[in-house]
Amino acid sequence: MKKRVGIEALAVAVPSRYVDIEDLARARGVDPAKFTAGLGAKEMAVTDPGEDTVSLAATAAARLIQQQGVDPSRIGMLVVGTETGIDHSKPVASHVQGLLKLPRTMRTYDTQHACYGGTAGLMAATEWIASGAGAGKVAIVVCSDIARYGLNTAGEPTQGGGAVALLVSEQPDLLALDVGLNGTCTMDVYDFWRPIGRREALVDGHYSINCYLEALSGAYRGWREKALEHGLVRWSGTLPGEQLARIAYHVPFCKMARKAHTQLRLCDLEDAVGPGPGTPEAREEVAKSAASYDAQVASSLGLNSRIGNVYTASLYLALAGLLHREGAQLASQRIGLLSYGSGCMAEFFSGVVGEKAAERMARADLDGVLARRERVSIEEYERLMKLPSDAPEAKAPAPGAFRLAEIRDHKRLYVEGG
Ligand code: HMG
Repeated sequence: MKKRVGIEALAVAVPSRYVDIEDLARARGVDPAKFTAGLGAKEMAVTDPGEDTVSLAATAAARLIQQQGVDPSRIGMLVVGTETGIDHSKPVASHVQGLLKLPRTMRTYDTQHACYGGTAGLMAATEWIASGAGAGKVAIVVCSDIARYGLNTAGEPTQGGGAVALLVSEQPDLLALDVGLNGTCTMDVYDFWRPIGRREALVDGHYSINCYLEALSGAYRGWREKALEHGLVRWSGTLPGEQLARIAYHVPFCKMARKAHTQLRLCDLEDAVGPGPGTPEAREEVAKSAASYDAQVASSLGLNSRIGNVYTASLYLALAGLLHREGAQLASQRIGLLSYGSGCMAEFFSGVVGEKAAERMARADLDGVLARRERVSIEEYERLMKLPSDAPEAKAPAPGAFRLAEIRDHKRLYVEGG
């Protein structure tokens, strides 16, 4: 029998501060409805130099191990997906190994491909276990990033930061992945990039949305072909995409999930055989169905709307938000996931939600994680944004959280909250 492999549990770490998105709109002289209704945002996570990609990754991984009672000696692989690493050579994963005193026998490395980097890590870990190479060990994949576009830019309301740690094993209590059925699509584009030495990303915003949608189409059609072949979905009274109980998308801002869902439905409507809406306009109308979006997508966006873009972690925040809210109802049902990374790469994959999803998610205490944050003013957010990245302010980390304390001789030194 084929091994069941997938996500056993997850944990989330977020920066200790956030701003209300309407405060940001007012400070920028923008109608708040543009950021709330237009982009789908409510709050945006704010970091200071002490909360970097390493500290967020270490906090999420430590939380995963502690909340879920993971025996460290069972961990054979630790991968960190990130596009906001802190060194050209030394991986974030090596810091996490040291800070958490994880086994020296593990394989550790970072994966980078913009927001797709975390999915690259998840697939490597999944295939490592499915192939038998893991020999019964489990893997931890951490997606950790800080999204920065800069003050007064179009991308500013789509910033954010945080980390999601995933436990990958042969006991997929959260999500058993349909290994081997993934659809992929890659294109060489300059939609979003960050040249070496720059702190802020460069982005061709509207073009990046088009790239996302085009890559999604390729990846979804690739998955659908295999899913049809294996009988997971079929052409019938409902579209193949409608046969997935929910779909979690990469969420650079919440409205993007709505655009993505419309595009996915368009792929089905364009390719459907038999009677259906005959003109492109009619297809567009059916694709936009609010009922379909409400039923399949809306419930996954609770965390994303309050944290913002977390690049590699954004899809997994959507998964966390979905299972936090609907883990019990979704048990035994198949969901779809779409990962996108600029540059670009998209991967569509699917899995079946586990019977113990709700129980596992309860241990992740996501309401508590959000409730412990502090709301700050726009003046304070702007002050934090202007601080140099190599001079963290003295601040005690929360119990169980890590923080960059100082950089000495070009070496980063971290402290753990007691
Ligand atoms: P913008 O140009 O300032 O905004 O920037 P806009 O004019 O396009 O307006 C946004 C939406 O608000 C529009 O809705 C407006 O109609 C609406 P839409 O037409 O798209 O449905 N709107 C209003 N709604 C209600 N009341 C109002 C109002 N005014 C306008 N008064 C943009 C928007 C997303 C381009 C910008 O924020 C940006 O550049 N963000 C960063 C890039 C990004 O997130 N791209 C997403 C795809 S690429 C991706 O996902 C990869 C990424 O995560 C990076 C990686 O892979 O590493 C970014």
